[in-house]
Amino acid sequence: MNKRDVIIACDFAGAAETFEFLDKFTEEKPFVKIGMELFYSEGPQIVREIKARGHKVFLDLKLHDIPNTVKKAMSVLSGLDVDIVNVHAAGTIAMMEAAIEGLTRADGTRPLLIAVTQLTSTDQQRMEDDLLIKEPIDKVVMHYAENAKKAGLDGVVCSPLEAEAVHKHCGDDFLTVTPGIRFADGDKGDQKRVMTPAAAKEAGSDLIVVGRPITKAEDPVAAYRRCVKEFLG
Ligand code: C5P
Repeated sequence: MNKRDVIIACDFAGAAETFEFLDKFTEEKPFVKIGMELFYSEGPQIVREIKARGHKVFLDLKLHDIPNTVKKAMSVLSGLDVDIVNVHAAGTIAMMEAAIEGLTRADGTRPLLIAVTQLTSTDQQRMEDDLLIKEPIDKVVMHYAENAKKAGLDGVVCSPLEAEAVHKHCGDDFLTVTPGIRFADGDKGDQKRVMTPAAAKEAGSDLIVVGRPITKAEDPVAAYRRCVKEFLG
């Protein structure tokens, strides 16, 4: 797998819409992210079909449960031959270690495993009031990233604004997978802190996750190519 790539967030409600979108790509096979909505509506078959078409898949299900349950669930996901899966770092180091155990196949190979630190929908106030975590949120994010590294994970999902600090704390090889990407002339939608693909490259993002700027574009293939050119070019 290329360390640096553009992942399209396929946030569609069902298989028909997803394949109508993917069929537009006749020359390239973009890396795709499948989230909860699509996975829960279509089941594991959607992953098998997208993999069979030759795409790499980041299955974004953000597991968070007791270690034994996560281990068993990960072993099922590993059998789907996905390329990246994720967990919540809040599930503890023991849970993340169990996730790796479950993911590892008999031949020693496994999909990449990354952790969600603090969701971007959680701000300092909510973390203090709802979760009773009183530390500054950027310290919490770095602590969770370090826990993920200790557990043997391959990286974290984070804002491109945090990519440099994550690499500083956890090493250059520790992957930063960053959503919140917008073109300079594009609509921000509900994303608050955004970066262009070119700025994300400068900031040290390894894999950028791009949804609506590509899926809602008039010409999604052209938007994808623009993204690849800005980020990888
Ligand atoms: O359409 P957009 O480019 O905003 O899509 C970004 C994708 O990344 C969505 O699937 C969203 O759920 C996901 N994501 C995010 N912010 C996070 C974690 C995941 O936008 N902190």
